[in-house]
Amino acid sequence: MAEQPESTGAALAAETDAVILVGGQGTRLRPLTVSTPKPMLPTAGYPFLSHLLARIAAAGMRHVVLGTSYKAEVFERYFGDGAEFGLEIEYVVEEEALGTGGGIRNVYDKLRYDTAMVFNGDVLSGADLGAILDTHHAGGADVTLHLVRVPDPRAFGSVPTDADGRVLAFLEKTEDPPTDQINAGCYVFKREVIERIPAGRVVSVEREVFPGLLSDGALVLGHVDSSYWRDMGRPSDFVQGSSDLVRGIAYSPLLEGRTGESLVDPSAGVAGGVILMGGTAVGRGSVIGAGSRIDDSVLFDGVTVEPGAVVRNSIIASGATIGANVRIQDCVIGEGARIGARCELQGGMRVWPGVEIPDSGVRFSPDA
Ligand code: GTP
Repeated sequence: MAEQPESTGAALAAETDAVILVGGQGTRLRPLTVSTPKPMLPTAGYPFLSHLLARIAAAGMRHVVLGTSYKAEVFERYFGDGAEFGLEIEYVVEEEALGTGGGIRNVYDKLRYDTAMVFNGDVLSGADLGAILDTHHAGGADVTLHLVRVPDPRAFGSVPTDADGRVLAFLEKTEDPPTDQINAGCYVFKREVIERIPAGRVVSVEREVFPGLLSDGALVLGHVDSSYWRDMGRPSDFVQGSSDLVRGIAYSPLLEGRTGESLVDPSAGVAGGVILMGGTAVGRGSVIGAGSRIDDSVLFDGVTVEPGAVVRNSIIASGATIGANVRIQDCVIGEGARIGARCELQGGMRVWPGVEIPDSGVRFSPDA
């Protein structure tokens, strides 16, 4: 099982504000995000953001500011003042979404310390947060970016550094990137750098703030590692990230000692002869009928799976019903949808909330 590396920066962390950007609309995960903001979607038994908050607390940070916009009220309703996590959480709402850079500037008045660690609220990471803070302070940087090495950097913009770790450029996606280091969506800022971001308008941290800092000659360092990393923005990554948490391939302090082939909420009912595998998570009050097989999938709360169904690599939202002997692969089933008996769905189909497909109603495959 993956273990959290020893943090060397716990003392630094106590004097660092954690800022989490959670204001995005999560369009790539629709229809799941029609009712629930992406960071609150159930992932390995908890709203995704809980895993990040637990890592922040374990690293020694105490004061957290959430930069919210889309469905802002949902976060405070769930996390309150953060005491349950040993944290003090504050919320700042953007009436109009300000983008990633604008969102960081917008929390400026809530910052208490000279250093802020900023997180994209949809990244699953195993990085040693204390070590990133160490790099930042030892190098006297204005900003330090966590850069992660990935096997195939072509799908991302890349971020080359020199021998001293100084960031040289922010490069767009290309077929032939000069480095395998990509922006991992976690940054350490000197507080005064945040103050200089223009206030009250949309700003992108990746496209405007970071390139601007380089052209102004600011010291921007990269902290490079090869830790676990996944952007949970697409359904396939969401499913993979959840199953990696369940299996302990990705670390969460919330799942210590509970990792395995599946994670089933104690209130769920699983009939005889059911096979749950591949890091499948089954949420509160879900019921799985005899002889079903659920592989590498995420079932939210109150899902009903009738006998003999096979579900693979899919996300089934709260209150959905999967009929008897249904076959589902690589799909997203929205809240309260009903898939009639014997339907076959695959190839990225997304069923909208509340939609009812009659028995034997769909036999969908991209090759059909
Ligand atoms: P897509 O619409 O599917 O691209 O998802 P997204 O809206 O979450 O955008 P993206 O994945 O690029 O965002 C990265 C992180 O920044 C996520 O945690 C978002 O919640 C957050 N974010 C994006 N835009 C804003 C914004 O305008 N304000 C704030 N506060 N956060 C934002």
